[in-house]
Amino acid sequence: MSRLRIALTKGRLKDETMKLFEKMGLDCEPLYNPGRRLIHSIPNYPLDIVLAKGPDVITYVEHGVCHMGIVGKDSILELGRSFYEVLDLGIGKCRFALAVQEGSDFYGTYKTRRIASKYPNVTREFFEKKGMDVSVIRIEGSVELAPILGLADAIVDLVETGDTLRANGLIPIEDVAQISARLIVNTPAMKLYPTEILDFVERCRTVIQGTPQASA
Ligand code: PRP
Repeated sequence: MSRLRIALTKGRLKDETMKLFEKMGLDCEPLYNPGRRLIHSIPNYPLDIVLAKGPDVITYVEHGVCHMGIVGKDSILELGRSFYEVLDLGIGKCRFALAVQEGSDFYGTYKTRRIASKYPNVTREFFEKKGMDVSVIRIEGSVELAPILGLADAIVDLVETGDTLRANGLIPIEDVAQISARLIVNTPAMKLYPTEILDFVERCRTVIQGTPQASA
């Protein structure tokens, strides 16, 4: 095999991933001005980068069209996994939290609570563990709107700085899970290309553990 292919999550995680890659000695120049192009080659390492949304990173890696992926634990928890999760990259740190409107007494009622989330599976599992019967409403974006509009009693969502919750009169009342980005590897690819993949994983691990990498 000549080149590895890795799917990167676009958005917030991309900049932190590029910083990590640069510490590994990878020339990320093509990613600075990607334009509308979705696949980029690293000039000084046999690696092609595919830019995708988190859930799609998982799909591409599971189907083997990308050997590896970098994706938040949030997507992994929501979508399940049939790949190797080889490294916690320590970037993209945030948490899943249960949040309610300020002043509301979430646990002070016996009626079935309605919870809005972009992560219905994570939400169901969280309340199942508590033995609480809830009704989960799937929302695609800006889930903070659901309690404001009276659609839900609470939300389960990603919280990083807490600014979005505060700006919308919501407060976190419980942590659901800690989140960070993970390096994942397609299972057959690990068996077919162990040398290439383990070289990349080790470069990554070296940087994360703080030992400088000599060159790419
Ligand atoms: C996430 C999340 C919150 C916000 C939290 O959305 O759904 O809305 O970030 O971040 P904060 O605590 O720093 O305010 P994101 O901006 O990733 O956009 P999305 O709705 O497209 O997922």
